Amino acid sequence: MHRLTTRLFVLAIALCWTLAGARGALAEATEITVYKSPTCGCCDGWIDHLEAAGFKVEAHDTRRMNAIKRDRGLPEELASCHTAEVGGYLVEGHVPAEDIRRLLETKPDVAGLAVPGMPIGSPGMEGPDPERYDVLEFKRDGSTAVFATHGPDSAKAPGHDHAGH
Ligand code: CU
Ligand code: CU
Repeated sequence: MHRLTTRLFVLAIALCWTLAGARGALAEATEITVYKSPTCGCCDGWIDHLEAAGFKVEAHDTRRMNAIKRDRGLPEELASCHTAEVGGYLVEGHVPAEDIRRLLETKPDVAGLAVPGMPIGSPGMEGPDPERYDVLEFKRDGSTAVFATHGPDSAKAPGHDHAGH
């Protein structure tokens, strides 16, 4: 009887370690690679936003942002300042961390997410007069759909308003 109790005890400890290990792996920060120009201040703001949301950011300064975007097949009209890669997806511009998380969880059949231009009020582009803006999912052929809408009144009428850009 004593032996059996000892064996169960050892088994229980082993199980605990396994579960703790699995939880550690889940809690591990998602790695994201960011390309930006060395002088871009709002890019640093976006990186801070990602880090605060638990991402592990590997940032690369480059003066060849146009080539970075072109080489990765980013549709030209979607361009913003920085370009990032995460989980096989492209992330262009000031996309909120919550949308990147949802992208990685739902894994839609798209090339990535983009916030074209640099709307005021997006993460890293905070300002006194925030705009409403869309996060677009896009394919390499340039087709897009609204993935999320943020900013003033975005909860009332989600998506489909591109007039603000
Ligand atoms: Cu920017
Ligand atoms: Cu940027």
